[in-house]
Amino acid sequence: MMHRLHARFDRHGVDEWAAKPPAGTAPEAACHMMSELTPSGYSLVFTRVKRAARKRTCALTDLGCGLGRAVAHAVASNAFVRARGYESVPLRALAAQSALTDLRLDGRACVTEGNFCEHQVTTACALSFDVAFDRLTLAALAARLETSPALRAFVSFKPPRRWREAGMRSFELKETGRVQSSGEERFTYYIYAKEPGHSV
Ligand SMILES: C[S@@+](CC[C@H](N)C(=O)[O-])C[C@H]1O[C@@H](n2cnc3c(N)ncnc32)[C@H](O)[C@@H]1O
Repeated sequence: MMHRLHARFDRHGVDEWAAKPPAGTAPEAACHMMSELTPSGYSLVFTRVKRAARKRTCALTDLGCGLGRAVAHAVASNAFVRARGYESVPLRALAAQSALTDLRLDGRACVTEGNFCEHQVTTACALSFDVAFDRLTLAALAARLETSPALRAFVSFKPPRRWREAGMRSFELKETGRVQSSGEERFTYYIYAKEPGHSV
């Protein structure tokens, strides 16, 4: 199942999409940096973020879900019971939702087109693949995460100093490690969690 799932994304993957974007794609949308993890990378960070959240069973929000690979992996691997992604580039959101439908994962996973900063996170765990997020996005996201009481832990690729500058106060660094992207880049991941009882 996981092999079929990732093959689906490889066939309609980032390089192919960026090299030959569908008609009407704005150039900035086609060129916007897109990184995804390998299947084992997702499994690793999902295990770690659930542990930091102190949850065995919970749901995930992918903040900037791109073509939907992480959302699909989250539910297909049963790491999470449900997953939701937000994606601001309309064609990517469309491609992600179509992938979930093709893979028959749309009962447990969905993608909403729009700015993730405009939505409260209602899941215990989140993924923020924020390698390319700028300061303004990070500040808006920090404010949103701080005001999402259900959120217990999230995966990020930004170090604590960047989150502190962005205004993050109630989440603490729990763990870091290295993972590989599907494009063979290596990234440091950071798991942040809210202390139990911390009120926002
Ligand atoms: C690295 S890519 C997505 C990778 C995806 N999380 C995965 O693991 O498969 C980051 C995505 O975030 C999206 N993005 C950036 N800022 C956003 C915002 N404010 N709201 C929603 N999506 C955003 C970008 O368009 C891009 O598709």
